[in-house]
Amino acid sequence: MELTHEEEEILNGRRGEKLAKVLEVIVKVGEGLEAERLVNVTHAHISGISYKNIGDAGLEFIEKLASSNLRVSIPATVNPAGMDIKKWKEMGVKQDFAEKQLRILGSLRKLGFKMLLTCTPYLYEKIPPGSQVAWAESNAVLYANSILDLYTNREGGPLALLEAIVGKAPLYGYRLEENRRPGLVIDFSDIKRTIKERELYQAIGYYVGTIAKFKVPLIKNYPPSLLQSDNVKLFLAAVGASGSVALVRFHGEEKNLERYRPSIDDIYSALPADFSDEGTILMGCPHLSAHEIQWLANIVKRWGKPKRRVIIFTARVLENSVHKEIAALSRAGIEVYFDTCMVVADLKSMGVDKPLVDSAKAAYYLSSQGYDVRLFSRKDILRVFYGDHV
Ligand code: F3S
Repeated sequence: MELTHEEEEILNGRRGEKLAKVLEVIVKVGEGLEAERLVNVTHAHISGISYKNIGDAGLEFIEKLASSNLRVSIPATVNPAGMDIKKWKEMGVKQDFAEKQLRILGSLRKLGFKMLLTCTPYLYEKIPPGSQVAWAESNAVLYANSILDLYTNREGGPLALLEAIVGKAPLYGYRLEENRRPGLVIDFSDIKRTIKERELYQAIGYYVGTIAKFKVPLIKNYPPSLLQSDNVKLFLAAVGASGSVALVRFHGEEKNLERYRPSIDDIYSALPADFSDEGTILMGCPHLSAHEIQWLANIVKRWGKPKRRVIIFTARVLENSVHKEIAALSRAGIEVYFDTCMVVADLKSMGVDKPLVDSAKAAYYLSSQGYDVRLFSRKDILRVFYGDHV
């Protein structure tokens, strides 16, 4: 791999042995991927920080890094943890788990990470379009590449952490323009109206990920409502759950590309769960935005307390800006948690056996954790809140 003078100096230990080791790992990964060189990244976002997922091995790795006096060299944020850091007792989290989770967060703070604790950094971090970044959360990666015109691969959590320290990443994959060209077309002409009417944005996302796999899909004839921020968030999260692709194109040249034109049955058959009406409603995968919380608060204002248990997950950064809405939701009996999410927290300890979700990503991961999940469109989940009259 071609290295700059600065990179050679780091590898030679001029800026400390520990930093040299970190860069060595990144260079090795780059060589394995046949990257010609490294590129400077200007922002990092790491996943895999829930004690539930990374256990003692992950805790040790992060504590060791933090105790070596290494620090991030660029702005860097973190994904949700395994619990709400203030209300963990209400979530039924055990003392031992909480202590270990707080140790992970303490070490990340020491390393210089900003404790955003959300999978929607794209709603809060301002990064100029065209920037190379190192993001590890799949829904955020898809949003970064597809909507914000940023450049990132789907980095592994530990790799993104090391890249945050050095501020460099191997130049390969989605960082290169030639790999961002569409590889197939998915044309929604036949079901455009139904997608909008039934709000099937996560369902078509799940279908797109299944069909695209590693190829960049070019989406055609979709309803314009797909690109509204909250809808595209659900859509891209679902693409990232069912496929390995890190970018969706909404415009582009379609000549000579393989073409798919799904029917509504294709969309429903891509869903990993059926409809039902029992269980606990969970919303906020990806984390609910301020706009979604306001929308939910308006619904509750109009229709009153939901008939079922409802739990929502969002980013702590919104705690003040939508505190009135959050208070109204709490008064209606809706449980609101920050810093964590339905997939990386322990739902069993929260007394949830059967999750009812409006996110195909959550349905996918909770099914793989053994939960009996039901997936609804956002429109349908309101019926589950209140019954058919909504
Ligand atoms: Fe976010 Fe957790 Fe879903 S990290 S995208 S809410 S699985």
